[in-house]
Amino acid sequence: MAESMRGLHRTHRCAEVSNKNIGETVTLMGWVQKSRNKGSLIFVDLRDRSGIIQIIFEEGTTEQAYFEKAGKLRSEFVIAVVGKVAKRSGAVNENLKTGDIEILASELRILSEAEVPPFPVEENSKTKEELRLKYRYLDLRRPDLQRNLMMRSKVATLTRQFLAEEGFLEIETPMLTKSTPEGARDYLVPSRVHPGNFYALPQSPQIFKQLLMCSGYDRYFQIVKCFRDEDLRADRQPEFTQIDMELSFVDVEDVLDVNERLLAKLFKEVLDVEISLPIQRMTWQEAMDRFGSDKPDTRFGMELVDVSEVVKDCEFVVFKSALENGGSVRGINATGQGNMPRKKIDALVEFAKTYGAKGLAYIAIQEDGTVKSSFAKFMKEEEMDALISAMDGKAGDLLLFAADKNKVVWDVLGALRLEIARQLDILDKNQYNFLWVTEFPLLEWSEEQNRYTAMHHPFTMPMEEDLEYLETEPGRVRAKAYDIVLNGTEIGGGSVRIFQDDVQERMFEALGFTKEEAYERFGFLLDAFKYGVPPHAGLAYGLDRLVMLMAKEDSIRDVIAFPKVKDASCLMTDAPNVVDEKQLEELALSIDQAIINKEKEEKDC
Ligand code: AMO
Ligand code: AMP
Repeated sequence: MAESMRGLHRTHRCAEVSNKNIGETVTLMGWVQKSRNKGSLIFVDLRDRSGIIQIIFEEGTTEQAYFEKAGKLRSEFVIAVVGKVAKRSGAVNENLKTGDIEILASELRILSEAEVPPFPVEENSKTKEELRLKYRYLDLRRPDLQRNLMMRSKVATLTRQFLAEEGFLEIETPMLTKSTPEGARDYLVPSRVHPGNFYALPQSPQIFKQLLMCSGYDRYFQIVKCFRDEDLRADRQPEFTQIDMELSFVDVEDVLDVNERLLAKLFKEVLDVEISLPIQRMTWQEAMDRFGSDKPDTRFGMELVDVSEVVKDCEFVVFKSALENGGSVRGINATGQGNMPRKKIDALVEFAKTYGAKGLAYIAIQEDGTVKSSFAKFMKEEEMDALISAMDGKAGDLLLFAADKNKVVWDVLGALRLEIARQLDILDKNQYNFLWVTEFPLLEWSEEQNRYTAMHHPFTMPMEEDLEYLETEPGRVRAKAYDIVLNGTEIGGGSVRIFQDDVQERMFEALGFTKEEAYERFGFLLDAFKYGVPPHAGLAYGLDRLVMLMAKEDSIRDVIAFPKVKDASCLMTDAPNVVDEKQLEELALSIDQAIINKEKEEKDC
């Protein structure tokens, strides 16, 4: 039977009580973590979001009715306790913030009883994530998730505070809108009033924030939900949150400066970590050449070395044909891994193949200086020596080479480098390596669409010095675009925007849009630019990713209250789901079961 809390007022959260309160009477409310009945003494661990405190019910001291009631307590009951704070009579519990005190209970109310939960509510749960997500409201009671969500809240609050102090205005933009150009698939919402028409949920507030600049708001920010229908991964959700900002009358330096100070404040106040400013910068080209990635993890070396020149005259077909086809041969040196068992090397070769490699050539230098290699037989001795020397190979090192088009070589070695670091367990989550990656290519060639697509989005400004190549060599034009990378994760990105009609027109042309098509999609923005537009630039963080790294988690699901799983469904609410025939009718929609069956069949194959 649930009791009321009438007449009682919570005075503290559990772990807010300390030895400073000894002798005081406090009223606490929360969930029973566990209770142990030792005959004349009943110990109860009471939990709320602040932590746990020990409550003691003592026969003869605690009123009999309350003592008996305490005997009925089970895990997850919600209770209210009145009692006196005392120094702990037993041994101090070093693991608890309140480990040196306890509450001698004088009153107990059971506010709500609880069934036995499907899994224990405890730190570092070993319960499968699927079950935890089905009962997410119980999962969210666990201290690790509570800490993560409290940290997330703190990050959001500090961000608001900082940006407000810097003169930014928080302005909301619509959720029911028109397709935005971030390159993912849209989530669509059918309109009842306009049957056959659809809103798109925003992939980002990009166009609206640029319009706000046209309207003179000067510095805008928003902590905002974005929606992208793309394949999910550990750091991707279909709906996620951005810290989004845009600034007028600025260039790259201004955006980077304000964001460096924002990051420094967040890390100092949330984690007590000093970020040394300015944050390191690297051009996209350098990042690819050295790390094979546009979001390099700089916590360790194992950098790529271009050995194309060194092997250009050798007879090894793999190297030769890659070079003949305009590609390159590059390697990494996994220092000290020369005695890696063959089986493990073979596994690395298979891993490389998942990134598009046709193979992986290796040289394992033994401690005695002899080499084991998958391609030595195709090489002259002096060619091998030159190669090893170019890779700075020493006794005990493992050298791995990929030969292919540059993009494949970068992808393969970039991924391999990370995989080896993971296997060696050298990635320290307490180390925070920030990096700005700048001067991204403006455009990238899409084999699928047989045209150039915008690497960032179509409103990104080309670098002035490259503008002349926009028509003749679009692939070499660099953009005034930047990403902020933390430990190999892209936590944010942005750019300076095009604000001149003629440049925007040339950009659309480079993307293969006719004037009409461009107008059809973004006409309102192009029109807005006709009425006076300030130069502007901006950036957006993935808040989920930022908090994931701050909380040292491996998945953004662990910093989102109600996340979705890989197939974009919610295991708790069962969304998405079918709707009533009547709702479909109102929307003038009908479901084509034949298509659904066919897709199912294809999936099952
Ligand atoms: P961009 O597309 O790079 O830029 O997105 C900004 C940041 O949002 C995060 N992010 C995601 N996080 C979780 N799940 C996802 N599916 C997901 N997709 C993106 C990333 C990324 O760096 N309008 C531009 C910003 C600008 O130019 O100002 C934009 O949206 O951390
Ligand atoms: P093969 O002669 O095909 O057996 O190849 C000899 C070695 O070269 C093997 O270790 C292959 O894994 C490796 N190899 C094949 N293709 C490539 C490639 N594109 N890049 C690097 N190594 C490769």
